[in-house]
Amino acid sequence: MMKVALGVTGCIGAYKSAEIVRGLQREGVEVWVIMTRHAQEFIAPLTFEALSGHKVITDMFAPTKAETPLQAHLEIEHIALAQAIDLLIVAPATANVLGKFHHGIADDFLTTLYLATPAPCLLAPAMNVEMWNHPAVQANVQALKDRGVHFVEPGAGYLACGMEGQGRLADVETVVAAARRILGRRRALAGERVLITAGPTCEDIDPTRFISNRSSGKMGYTLAEEAVARGAQVTLISGPTSLAPPPLAQRIAVRSAEQMLRAVLDQLPENSILIKAAAVADFRPAQTRPQKIKKDLPFTEIRLEPTLDILREVMRVKRDQLVVGFAAETEAVMENARKKLLEKDLDLIVANDVSGTQSGFDSDNNAVILIDRAGEVDQVSRRSKREVAVCILDRIERLLQRRRSSAPQTV
Ligand SMILES: Cc1cc2nc3c(=O)[nH]c(=O)nc-3n(C[C@H](O)[C@H](O)[C@H](O)COP(=O)(O)O)c2cc1C
Repeated sequence: MMKVALGVTGCIGAYKSAEIVRGLQREGVEVWVIMTRHAQEFIAPLTFEALSGHKVITDMFAPTKAETPLQAHLEIEHIALAQAIDLLIVAPATANVLGKFHHGIADDFLTTLYLATPAPCLLAPAMNVEMWNHPAVQANVQALKDRGVHFVEPGAGYLACGMEGQGRLADVETVVAAARRILGRRRALAGERVLITAGPTCEDIDPTRFISNRSSGKMGYTLAEEAVARGAQVTLISGPTSLAPPPLAQRIAVRSAEQMLRAVLDQLPENSILIKAAAVADFRPAQTRPQKIKKDLPFTEIRLEPTLDILREVMRVKRDQLVVGFAAETEAVMENARKKLLEKDLDLIVANDVSGTQSGFDSDNNAVILIDRAGEVDQVSRRSKREVAVCILDRIERLLQRRRSSAPQTV
């Protein structure tokens, strides 16, 4: 049974959390409720205790039979709860809790749980319209979204404070539907091993200079995080980037196209899905000088030679892996992507236009076109790389299901 922790914070809308508990239970989910101190000014824990069938967690240091605060802490097992849950929801979420989550403040059970849990997090903010529109609150929301936190935006209408505008806690059904969507994806890739390449490669001219490209690695790293969140075992082969390794993924650092090829071929047999999001150099200097080239030398040319095409090499040795390629194009995006899909015999191609600065390389956003072998095309309009990663993995899951349902059955 899926387990959800529902955080309730100090808003007028806190009474609606009782309906959310019911809605989640109707989905077959076990719910644990955590209330902040201020939430208890609005509704009594007893309501949630009766509905959820579990003791409501209201305090980090609640009086218990334990003799020391440490024993009490272990009794509550907030670390155990953090590990056990499939989703943390905070509904309603105050402006206060958005700020604390963004800045990693852990001064009560709920905010500590947020930091301690590897589970995805869904927030349903509710507040006065002026508070919601305040730049501080909007900056917190954006930072949390960039970190992969899911949101159900507040609705517009008449607010408890007497004002009109956006700020009302979203409908119970909308919150439950968002939770259902996240939980549905949660274990969708359990048991799958996913190999992802990310970032640029660097092709050395001499010990201090190299040829590279503008890829930041953000798309591949976000795909790795999203695949981990869906239960996959992820290996990330990464060119040089400044990004922190995604938690729970194994990262193999490489520098050149040749090293990336070797690492991919090495890891491929273990993995069922390969996502090639790296921007691998197509050319490299024919010779890497062992010493720094002096600037007073008459050095005007670097002779280039093609690198080995990783996808082509993969296709030579692959067995039944599902292979996803990326096509970064600056013109005729659709046409070039289709050509690459067919030429390289890929299962899916993710094409993006990298001619602008609004999306693609080194941007937090991306707009892509997904094309599969059956000719099915999805246009994913400009959105955060996190949301694009969700669309790509949803599509991969559908391809996997289709492939497995059409595979011959053995009796
Ligand atoms: C009557 C009343 C209603 C409130 N409603 C909200 C609200 O809807 N949203 C919000 O962010 N804060 C609201 N607040 C302010 C919060 O309760 C306050 O910021 C508190 O510190 C939140 O603590 P918590 O996030 O730990 O629950 C309200 C306060 C009062 C007295």
